[in-house]
Amino acid sequence: MQELINDIQKAVIEISKELRYLKDFDYTTSQNATGDNQLKLDVKSDEIITRILKQSKGVKSLISEEKQEQLLINENEKYVVAYDPLDGSSLVDVNFAIGSIFAIYEQKASAKNLKAAVYAIYGVRLELIVCIDTPKLFRLNENDEFAFVKDLKLNEKGKLNASGGTQKNWSNIHRAFIKALFDEGYRLRYSGAMVSDLHQILLKGGGLFSYPATTDAPNGKLRAYFEVFPFAFIFEKAGGLSTNGKNNSLLDLEFEKIHASTPCFLGSKYEIEKLKQAYKGL
Ligand code: AHG
Ligand code: MN
Ligand code: MN
Repeated sequence: MQELINDIQKAVIEISKELRYLKDFDYTTSQNATGDNQLKLDVKSDEIITRILKQSKGVKSLISEEKQEQLLINENEKYVVAYDPLDGSSLVDVNFAIGSIFAIYEQKASAKNLKAAVYAIYGVRLELIVCIDTPKLFRLNENDEFAFVKDLKLNEKGKLNASGGTQKNWSNIHRAFIKALFDEGYRLRYSGAMVSDLHQILLKGGGLFSYPATTDAPNGKLRAYFEVFPFAFIFEKAGGLSTNGKNNSLLDLEFEKIHASTPCFLGSKYEIEKLKQAYKGL
């Protein structure tokens, strides 16, 4: 596992260098499996990760947002790595913080086989969160090494409220719930890159991140295996909770398709319990 995490570190350092001196902000002429237009940078980041993880010890297969199918590397190995090579890539032109997300499953992609979750955030600094038992924050130092900073823990209740999805297509229940949080004093924080929005909630001690079902996207937008599950794992290990609006944990969900999406809510305990009550009426 540690060797695999070291290789993920190499990949994200290489991606961050691509981003820093980026000249080509263009889209390719292709779409990925979810129908998003691919940036050249999405494809490039996927290539970097594939090249490095193909050589990595323990990797059985790769599942990527930017690949139609699962890529088999070595049938006899143990880990299935599912990843979003670049999260929030549509914000690269405005120079916002974006990220890469990795979920490490044993044998088969399934939330119950999730052994570790890792994400990198390309912001003012390059930071890496590695979660096996508890989420640990690392920061790249001047020697190009990730130095441990601290363990991350959520408070029982936070102050931030981040909801995605086109608002005119929200359900009335979601609209009323988000308003109730603002009426309680919560502040809006939403950049449009889930890595940054969830990282902010995690580092500031709590709050709620939502990407609800909408009339135009009844299964939400965020993809289970490489966006939702790794963050649900991290939030729960940090002392928070996750739900799809009905269940007790996003990690109880199973999907057949590797690019399946799900409505998702992640946050500290207070907000998720309150959301589950509000969503009972749906
Ligand atoms: P990606 O760049 O990998 O396609 O992911 C973008 C995702 C996620 O990061 C973010 O939370 C969400 O899209 C934002 O969607 P909306 O603009 O619909 O809020
Ligand atoms: Mn993404
Ligand atoms: Mn992406």
